Amino acid sequence: MQRLKIEGGIRINGEISVQGAKNSALPLLSACVLSRGKVTLHNCPRLSDVFAACRILTCLGCSCSFDGNTVTVDPDTISRSYVPDDLMREMRSSIVFLGAVLGRMGRCSLSFPGGCELGPRPIDMHISALRQMGVVIKEEYGVLDCSCPKGLKGAKISLSFPSVGATENIMLAACLAKGDTVIYNAAREPEISDLAGFLNSCGARISGHGGSVIYITGVRELHDCEYSVMPDRIVSCTLLGAAALTGGEISLKNSRPQDIDAVLPVFEQMGCGVFVYDDNIYLNGKKALKAVKTIRTMPYPGFPTDAQAIIMAVLTKAQGTSVIVENIFENRYRHVDELVRMGADIKVEGKVAVVEGVKRLFGTNVIATDLRGGAALIIAALAADGETVISNVKLVDRGYENIEKQLGSVGARICRC
Ligand code: UD1
Repeated sequence: MQRLKIEGGIRINGEISVQGAKNSALPLLSACVLSRGKVTLHNCPRLSDVFAACRILTCLGCSCSFDGNTVTVDPDTISRSYVPDDLMREMRSSIVFLGAVLGRMGRCSLSFPGGCELGPRPIDMHISALRQMGVVIKEEYGVLDCSCPKGLKGAKISLSFPSVGATENIMLAACLAKGDTVIYNAAREPEISDLAGFLNSCGARISGHGGSVIYITGVRELHDCEYSVMPDRIVSCTLLGAAALTGGEISLKNSRPQDIDAVLPVFEQMGCGVFVYDDNIYLNGKKALKAVKTIRTMPYPGFPTDAQAIIMAVLTKAQGTSVIVENIFENRYRHVDELVRMGADIKVEGKVAVVEGVKRLFGTNVIATDLRGGAALIIAALAADGETVISNVKLVDRGYENIEKQLGSVGARICRC
C-alpha cells in the first residue's frame, strides 16, 4: 500500500499551473466513442481513473495513446459494446460509458456500478431517462444489458435532481439519437459545459448547457476534433486550502476563478486575501483563520460537495465554530475520524458537521478514506506539528496528478514511501 509522508509546519509558497479536470476528462474520453474520426484531447490529467477510462476504450476496440498530457483516441476500430466487470469496479464513474456506447453501437452491457466510498450511488435516473429514449434495459445478475431495437430517439426528460452523471449520459445518448432531446432540471456544473463544448466541436448540436434546460438535436454522425480539457476546479480549491491552512501564499495559473465562485468567498470569510485576474488566482493566508458562516453543499452553482472535506480541513484551525451541511452524498464525512486523530475537534450528526477551531494539529498515522477526504488529510498534515503518514494514497491518485510533486514544488516536505 503506497503512503505519503509529510513533515508539517512549512508554509506553502509559490506558483502552480492547475491540472486538467478529472471529472471532465472522464466523460470526454467516453464521448470519443461517438466520433467517426480521431480525437485529440489536450490537458488531460495523468490519473489512475483516466488510465482506467483508456483501458475501457481499448477493451471496446478503440485505440488510445498518451503522450505527456495529450491523449489520442481512434474510435474507428470500435468493435465491442461490453465493459467487463473488473473495469467497471476499477472506476465507478465508468457508468458514463453507457450513453456513449449506446449512441455509437446501439447496445451496451456493463455491470451495475454498485456502492462506493461515498455511500450508495444509485443510477435510477440514468436508467429511466434512457428508457424514455427507447432503450430496453434488462438487469440480470448485476449486469445491465441495454439495447435499442428501434434505435435511440429524442425525448423530453425531466430529472428529479440535477444529477451530473445522468445529465452526461443523456447528452451522450442524445447526440446521435433521432430527433430532439430536452433535459429539464439538468446539472449546470462546468464539466457539463465542457462536455457540450467538446461534443459540439465534433459536430453535435447542443445548446442551453450551463443552464437548467439543455437542448440536443440529434445529428447523423460526429467527426474528429482537437480539444483541451478544462482546469480542475477541485484541485484549485485543494491548493488554495493548502496555502490558507499553512499561512502561506499561492498563485494558481490556468485556473478558472468563475468555476469556484461559491468557494472563493469562504476563503475570504476565513480572513485570506484572495485576488483574481484572468485565469489566475492568488491567495494570501498570512492572517489567523476565522470560522465561517454555515456552508451547505449544493448542486452547481452552489458550494461543491467535492470541496467539502478540503474546506473542513482548513476550518479545523479557524478560530470559532463553523458548521457544514452535506446535502449531496449520504456518506461523505468519513475523513472526520481521521482529522480528529490529528487533533481536530469535529462532531457529526447526520448531514451536519460542527467544526470547533483548534490551535494545533498533530502529525500521526491516518488513512485516506476517499479521494477528497484523502486530499483533506494532506492539507491537514501540511499544517500539523510533526510527521504524518497517510496510507491508501491510491484513492488520492484517482484525482491528483503526482500530488507530491505538485505540493513539493511550492515548498511542502512530502514524499511517497
Ligand atoms: C459527479 C462527480 C462527483 C461529484 C458529483 C456531485 C464525476 C466523475 N463525479 O458524480 O465528483 O461529487 O458529481 O457534484 O463527475 N443520484 C440518484 N440517482 C441517480 C443519480 C444520482 O439518486 O440516478 C443521487 C446520488 O446518489 C447523489 C446525487 O444524486 O446523492 C448526486 O449525484 P450525481 O450528481 O449523479 O453525481 P455523480 O455524477 O455520481
